[in-house]
Amino acid sequence: MTTTGPGRADTREVNGLAADALSGLWQDPPRLPTKWLYDERGSRLFDEITRLPEYYPTRRETAILRARAAEIAEVTEAQVMVELGSGTSTKTRLLLDAFTDAAAPGRRFTYVPVDVSTEVLTASAETLSQDYPGIEVVPVVADFTEPDLTLPDADGPRLAVFLGGTIGNFDADARAEFYRRLAGSLSPGDWFLLGTDLVKDTGRLVAAYDDAAGVTADFNRNMIEVLRTGLDARGLYPDDFEHIARWNPREHRIEMWLRARRDIEAYFAVLGRSWRLPAGAEIHTEISTKFDPDSLRKELEESGFGVVSTWTDDFGDFALTLGRR
Ligand SMILES: C[S@@+](CC[C@H](N)C(=O)[O-])C[C@H]1O[C@@H](n2cnc3c(N)ncnc32)[C@H](O)[C@@H]1O
Repeated sequence: MTTTGPGRADTREVNGLAADALSGLWQDPPRLPTKWLYDERGSRLFDEITRLPEYYPTRRETAILRARAAEIAEVTEAQVMVELGSGTSTKTRLLLDAFTDAAAPGRRFTYVPVDVSTEVLTASAETLSQDYPGIEVVPVVADFTEPDLTLPDADGPRLAVFLGGTIGNFDADARAEFYRRLAGSLSPGDWFLLGTDLVKDTGRLVAAYDDAAGVTADFNRNMIEVLRTGLDARGLYPDDFEHIARWNPREHRIEMWLRARRDIEAYFAVLGRSWRLPAGAEIHTEISTKFDPDSLRKELEESGFGVVSTWTDDFGDFALTLGRR
């Protein structure tokens, strides 16, 4: 994880996109890392998704946080909370409220939101600083999949938080690597709070990623716009792609794809390369793995975390797991 302050250089972003396009678009099937869904527009669309009737995960995770935030603050006694993929930090306010209430007199709690989406991160950090004058808010623009995951030092216990089911964007190998590096960055006694979506009825799962209003379709197609503008592409337009969300029962995950509606013949000026995709072929943009609490516990324990508590919402849709390094 490269820890830079807000305002990441555009050139670095373009270079990263170019490298990912070169290594992903010419694969079979073509693929791009999920993080490229989250430019400013993508992040705003995701925020809209969290309020859609079909998208239950945010409501369920919020309910668990509302019920458990005070307990989390009391049990962890954390002085620093680092949130990976913080987005708008909306749900996190429940934790910030709880840590504010639990703070010992004279001790300042620090919140470090980490995200690739610079504009949303900066704007939410500014608002949080105003709303929580007793908390030090230190936003960090970083890619949480990069190898040098360095977390800030603290006088007391640290709490790493990964909400929204974002861990589901990793396959099993990437998850193991992520846990291994996170465990390596934390000290014994530090904490890890992880939000995971649970396996459930396929119809509900697919609907959550293919809503009637078409917001998720716009969110997915936005990756084409990110490619078009970032790599100065000709012949590449979001409307030429259909949003596909399907359940992969073997891997117990929702997969998002973009299917070409016509033969695509694009030219990327930044790469100096042409790219073809025949009508009907698909680009892989996101996976969202769904978990069951027992196998999740096992994979966390195999990665150096003891599971202290697992909480689910009243409907058994979503789980919040508190682990300790
Ligand atoms: C599914 S959203 C969850 C947002 C928020 N935590 C929530 O629970 O609503 C994923 C978040 O992770 C961020 N993100 C995605 N890939 C990332 C990466 N590789 N490094 C850092 N942030 C990333 C996105 O910008 C987005 O804010």
